[in-house]
Amino acid sequence: MSRISRKRHWERIYEGAEEEKLSWYEEVPTLSLDLAGQCELDQNSRILIAGAGTSRLADFLLERGFTDIIATDISSQALALLKRRLGSPAAGKVTFVADDLLQPKLLPGFSPVQLWHDRAVLHFFIDEEDRQAYFDLLRQMLAPGGYALLAAFNLQSVKMCSGLPVMNYNAEMLSEALGDEFELLSSFDYTHHTPSGEPRPYVYGLWRKAFQRMA
Ligand SMILES: C[S@@+](CC[C@H](N)C(=O)[O-])C[C@H]1O[C@@H](n2cnc3c(N)ncnc32)[C@H](O)[C@@H]1O
Repeated sequence: MSRISRKRHWERIYEGAEEEKLSWYEEVPTLSLDLAGQCELDQNSRILIAGAGTSRLADFLLERGFTDIIATDISSQALALLKRRLGSPAAGKVTFVADDLLQPKLLPGFSPVQLWHDRAVLHFFIDEEDRQAYFDLLRQMLAPGGYALLAAFNLQSVKMCSGLPVMNYNAEMLSEALGDEFELLSSFDYTHHTPSGEPRPYVYGLWRKAFQRMA
């Protein structure tokens, strides 16, 4: 899928969308918050929410005192909705970056991040070339000693979402894609239920990047 078609697809999803009806909607991103809480971060640590959409993660990170959050998404519409909802508490603390994780123009210019968070984004990248581009960006942007928190549809989950095919994962597959520099700290399966009650099994994992590049 080309960059333009990808962007058009996701812009359409968010135009006129009711946030609470999106199949991936979570009122409270409890597991993301729990795993982020296990990272050695201070309130000034830079956190990147990849494919943030209109997720409530930024709301809760702000509530917990974090001051340097990057919310990035291919959809400007999603980021506009997110910015509106977050309102003034986000001023100076959340940077909204409309960019494509697969062909990023702006993200590589940012200084390294201490936590890369992705829930329900990576699994849309099914071509090997796209997966490579995604993991190259993650490795490039993550500071030494930084954390990757990934949540993707697991092997028992659906094969399509939002009209797009997905790639299913387990923790070993994610570890392999991240590479030897990353140590798996925790992983588990969790079934999210869509607002209409359908099960969507995910694998969650938290990895730490080595402080020094492996020889
Ligand atoms: C299923 S939603 C998940 C949103 C959010 N992470 C959450 O958990 O609520 C997938 C998100 O990834 C974004 N996305 C898809 N492809 C992308 C790409 N190539 N670059 C950046 N964002 C992308 C979409 O616009 C959408 O907001």
